[in-house]
Amino acid sequence: MDIKKLEAWYDKNHRKLLFRETKDPYKIWISEIMLQQTQVETVLPFFEKFIHKYPNVKALSLADEEGLKKDVEGLGYYRRFKYLLKAAKYIVDHHDSIFPKSYEEVIKLPGVGKYTAGAIMSIAYHKPYSALDGNVIRVLSRYLNLNDDFRIEKNRKKLDDINQSYIELANPHTYTQAMMELGATICRPKKPKCEICPLNEHCLAYELNIQETLPFLSKLKDKKLFQYITLKIYDHDQHIFLRKRTEDLLEGMYEYPQFDSESIYDVISLLEEKNILIDVIEDMGNYKHIFTHQIWEMHIYEVILITGVDPEWIKVKQDNLMNLPMAVAHRKIK
Ligand code: ADE
Repeated sequence: MDIKKLEAWYDKNHRKLLFRETKDPYKIWISEIMLQQTQVETVLPFFEKFIHKYPNVKALSLADEEGLKKDVEGLGYYRRFKYLLKAAKYIVDHHDSIFPKSYEEVIKLPGVGKYTAGAIMSIAYHKPYSALDGNVIRVLSRYLNLNDDFRIEKNRKKLDDINQSYIELANPHTYTQAMMELGATICRPKKPKCEICPLNEHCLAYELNIQETLPFLSKLKDKKLFQYITLKIYDHDQHIFLRKRTEDLLEGMYEYPQFDSESIYDVISLLEEKNILIDVIEDMGNYKHIFTHQIWEMHIYEVILITGVDPEWIKVKQDNLMNLPMAVAHRKIK
């Protein structure tokens, strides 16, 4: 591979992003966790505020999980922040609050897998460890014209080994970031800018003009559709009732109580069986939210609680609603 050309291209052309200005492994770790499944532009404002509020491992370890989730509300995939907090506490207890330096220790941290460990080791410590993410898969599958299905673990492993052999010949700090940057800005999924790519001379997909057909990724299972009746339940005293989620998706985030049902009448009867009486005040219409593996279609009603309460419902002052971490699927409900 033309590693020298790639690195020279990166040095000259990379976007000057806030998380690239630091050498602090703590900050690089935070940025890599935030960048998992999330676009750079989305991450940047969150990263800046987060680092201001939690400037080091110790400060992060003292956060409470709910406050932390509130700080990242809107980033999605909230479980990663539960692990982040666990990892910060682990570093305080086992590494005297200093971010660990070896791969073996870094990969032990909750929420840190092979990709994130490789990214931290190469970017923060200049050590040759492969960090294979979606961008890198795209660049390499095109460069080498590989049409294996990279959703299959065995094939990813093969590509990870190839990436490892390249990074061992490179400046690891530059190489990892250059491959990600190339994937994000030049070797894009659609309309890649091959004419200005530093790897175009030996790129096999470019030579055959099949770059847009790679990488081959088998389709994920179809998204599952949920139809909910979602209730904004008020009392007569400026309170609203919320539920704290316990499901894997959005665990620990607050939501309006909702019911896997297509009709408000079913919900009213269901609640009556639990001796809960509500009065419907307004039909607020439909909202839709698309997650990676689910779609929620929600029909929203404003209701007044007359008697009874569900043990899962939590009564909060309406003024306090903005201070709680809430699923964006529900936050956007007006
Ligand atoms: N995506 C994940 N890590 C990244 C990084 N360090 N730079 C740009 N995009 C990324």
